[in-house]
Amino acid sequence: MKCTVCREPAVIDIRRHNAYFCPDHFLRLCRDQTAKAIKDHQMFGPDDRVLVAVSGGKDSLAVWDILLELGYRADGFVIGLGIGDYSAASTQHARDYATGRGATLLEVNLPDEYGYDIPSGSKAARRTPCSACGLTKRHLFDKAAVDGGYDVVVTGHNLDDEAAVLFGNVLHWHTEYLGRQSPVLPARAGFPRKAKPLIRLGEREMAAYCVLKGIDYIVEECPMAAGNRHLQYKESLNSVEARSPGAKFDFYHRFLTAAAPAFRIADEDDTLSRCERCGAPCSAEVCAFCRLVERATTPQPVHLGPRRRRGAANTATTTDRSTAEGHAP
Ligand code: AMP
Ligand code: FES
Ligand code: ZN
Ligand code: ZN
Repeated sequence: MKCTVCREPAVIDIRRHNAYFCPDHFLRLCRDQTAKAIKDHQMFGPDDRVLVAVSGGKDSLAVWDILLELGYRADGFVIGLGIGDYSAASTQHARDYATGRGATLLEVNLPDEYGYDIPSGSKAARRTPCSACGLTKRHLFDKAAVDGGYDVVVTGHNLDDEAAVLFGNVLHWHTEYLGRQSPVLPARAGFPRKAKPLIRLGEREMAAYCVLKGIDYIVEECPMAAGNRHLQYKESLNSVEARSPGAKFDFYHRFLTAAAPAFRIADEDDTLSRCERCGAPCSAEVCAFCRLVERATTPQPVHLGPRRRRGAANTATTTDRSTAEGHAP
């Protein structure tokens, strides 16, 4: 196997490009593809201050590294979500990268600063862990960017992620979500711009990028995400891709050029008010995040004694502050 560019020994093949690459040309390809996505979708410019949301996984560490290599002013931001050892390890990987690279990393620890973690907070709020986690992350990304004066928030979503989201949205014809599925969302009404520069690169390439660059990332997936629909969509697309290399890229990128404009919603409401608790832009008096915090930090009922049969009277429950507020609607 020889590099298609220089004929030196290759270390990776990319079937959708019908090409093999040596380490140098592969790393160059990753930088070039990222730079192309940034330019094609006008994600940000050389003077913008970029905040990279870093989970400690391969994608977000790779995108941070690529942006620094390309000369962007990129700082990292990690949220400790309180998902046991997984969160501790992911935060540590982000710190290790920042230290090794001499880069700036901002940190927020959810249990310390907001009084809940994703496993117990999502239960208390009667949301799935991924939904509570998504809401929490979006709010904290926005807040960190606005407070820190950043122009744009970058996430490590890659081609596989975006194609899987698109697959789910098409499968159920979530037309409103299709209208918003864009690799760059402009700043509006107090929200920062958001960008996904890895839309031309897949998961396998990002893992190879980290290995070749010696970037130590957390390999385990989030334990709360096991078996979710997003992973099933990825598997389905992977089996299509195995038989038709390039199908995934075409599915997503041709959606962006040929179909996305038809779903775009003409004028998003730019006249949002402010959350009366945290000041974030929102359309209600209290934003969804503050409502989540309230529910997630409300003490839960504790069962006393053995559980009775279904329908039996007098199941004894209490809460550690003797309230029933834990029963969210
Ligand atoms: P996920 O929602 O886990 O698929 O992650 C998507 C992207 O969100 C990652 O590529 C990161 O950019 C960002 N992200 C996920 N988890 C965290 C975290 N704990 N702290 C900061 N950013 C995160
Ligand atoms: Fe959010 Fe797993 S990282 S639920
Ligand atoms: Zn080469
Ligand atoms: Zn709020």
